[in-house]
Amino acid sequence: MKEFIIATNNSHKVAEIERILSPLGFTAVTAKERGIDLGDVVEDGDTFAANAYIKAKHAFDLCHQPVIADDSGLCVDALGGRPGVYSARYGGHDASPLVKISMLLDEMKNVPDDRRSAHFTCAVCCILDEDTVIEVEGRCEGMISHRMSGDGGFGYDPVFVVDGRSFATLTAEEKDRYSHRGSALRKLRDALEASLS
Ligand code: IMP
Repeated sequence: MKEFIIATNNSHKVAEIERILSPLGFTAVTAKERGIDLGDVVEDGDTFAANAYIKAKHAFDLCHQPVIADDSGLCVDALGGRPGVYSARYGGHDASPLVKISMLLDEMKNVPDDRRSAHFTCAVCCILDEDTVIEVEGRCEGMISHRMSGDGGFGYDPVFVVDGRSFATLTAEEKDRYSHRGSALRKLRDALEASLS
């Protein structure tokens, strides 16, 4: 059994990571659960991968045990890829998901259906030890709907639609199957299986 520190305070992300890695015998805990305060880290990378590395390295230097960090976001084609790496800060650091979604729908109110394509990207960085860094990325293509639907998931899930259904209407298992994080974590799982066997 190998324990990973997950470098996030987002309980939804921890649950998604745990669901995908636990069948391999891995456990995922937050730094907080191990009594370690990660504090604030400046995510000033230009890419999801750069920010995932910044978060993972920060956590590894504090925890000295295997860590996993992800950086993810929503890229909307009609907005030139925004909010992208700024997805968590769109509308301001403290803006609620509802405020972010309202802003997004407002920015897109005149965008027709055939120009509402978007994708989620998730970069995952896993640091096993000083010399072993695994970096993977997953992506999920979809559309931005005109209104919210569903009450599951988190963040932009109520307006991100794949195959006619918003992420917020999917079960956890369905979201894992489609999602950017699910795709990145399956790549990580394969890389871990290869590197730890
Ligand atoms: P991060 O914690 O810096 O990676 O922030 C990513 C932001 O992108 C989150 O706060 C959400 O707003 C959004 N996001 C990332 N992944 C998802 C997802 O699976 N569903 C909905 N929103 C997401």
